[in-house]
Amino acid sequence: MQIKNSAVSMIIEAENQKELEEIKLQFLGRSGRLTLTLKEITKVPAEKRAIVGRLANEVKNVIEETLEEKKLTLGSQISNQQKQSIDITNPGIKPDIGHLHPMTQVLYEVADIFKQIGFQAADGPEIETDYHNFEALNIYKDHPARDTQQTLYLDTRDSKSNPGEIILRTQTSNMQIRIMEKFTPPLRVIVPGKVFRYEQTDASHGFEFWQFEGFAVDKNIRFTDLLGVLDYFVKKFFGENTKIRFASHNFPFTEPSLEGHISCITCKGKGCRFCKFSGWVEVLGAGMIHPNVLKRMNINPSKYQGFAFGTGLSRLVTLRYQMNDLRLLTDPDLRILEQF
Ligand code: DAH
Repeated sequence: MQIKNSAVSMIIEAENQKELEEIKLQFLGRSGRLTLTLKEITKVPAEKRAIVGRLANEVKNVIEETLEEKKLTLGSQISNQQKQSIDITNPGIKPDIGHLHPMTQVLYEVADIFKQIGFQAADGPEIETDYHNFEALNIYKDHPARDTQQTLYLDTRDSKSNPGEIILRTQTSNMQIRIMEKFTPPLRVIVPGKVFRYEQTDASHGFEFWQFEGFAVDKNIRFTDLLGVLDYFVKKFFGENTKIRFASHNFPFTEPSLEGHISCITCKGKGCRFCKFSGWVEVLGAGMIHPNVLKRMNINPSKYQGFAFGTGLSRLVTLRYQMNDLRLLTDPDLRILEQF
């Protein structure tokens, strides 16, 4: 009894885990007070031994239980103390915040530049018909221009479409057709989007990449309107000092057609590795929309004219940031992406 009382009162008064451990040793340890008493039991006369034994065991249980309880209350006190000791004036841990991919940033910027001169942005299908991607753009089945656009065909065996009719679009020019089918002039539209070609991937080629298309159809649209719009765009996008020059070219859906080069933004036209020492880099294709294309869309070419242009959006990004490999744009490496 005495052992029990003194043990319990000591446990209750204990202030920390260390004191509790000491009390435990003092009573229940190998030479603890209760342990020694239990050993003495053999000396107790046989008839009283059972009673004394039970009593001693009860005392042991009570001490153990009280110890356990106290341990728990001390534990929760500690965590309360810890909670109270949080310094709320400490600056927090900054969470990682994502941002738009450089490609999307540039896409928004381009859309914004054209919005200022009245162009709307449109979106369209990546899975396309041969008709919209080629045929309606004056690129007939056996046209040599198809060779420049290595096409990925979808397996149409289980569908109603004829073999070879359903493809992944090779150019965003398909959207000239889709928009002219649905809307009547005046039209001023840009279309950013992904295109696909069966190409070996390397630093300047990908089997999927981004383009953006622009076109306008209205009365009195002239060749000089096209040149002015392109000049406006490259100056807004690459900077006021950027020069643009035009070279004649051929696209089946424009007549006349041209290719646009800008003064190299790396060396400012002096000549460097980036521009292959020419001072100029090719950035776009363009031209006046071919009368055949307008006619097919039921637009009378003697009343309405149009211009169109197309450029690689991926290329605009790599040019602006002087990246030497297109593949960096699809690399999920955060060390690259965090720089934008
Ligand atoms: N679609 C052409 C290509 O992928 C680029 C292009 C050239 C678009 C001339 C045009 C254009 O709208 O007028 O190579």
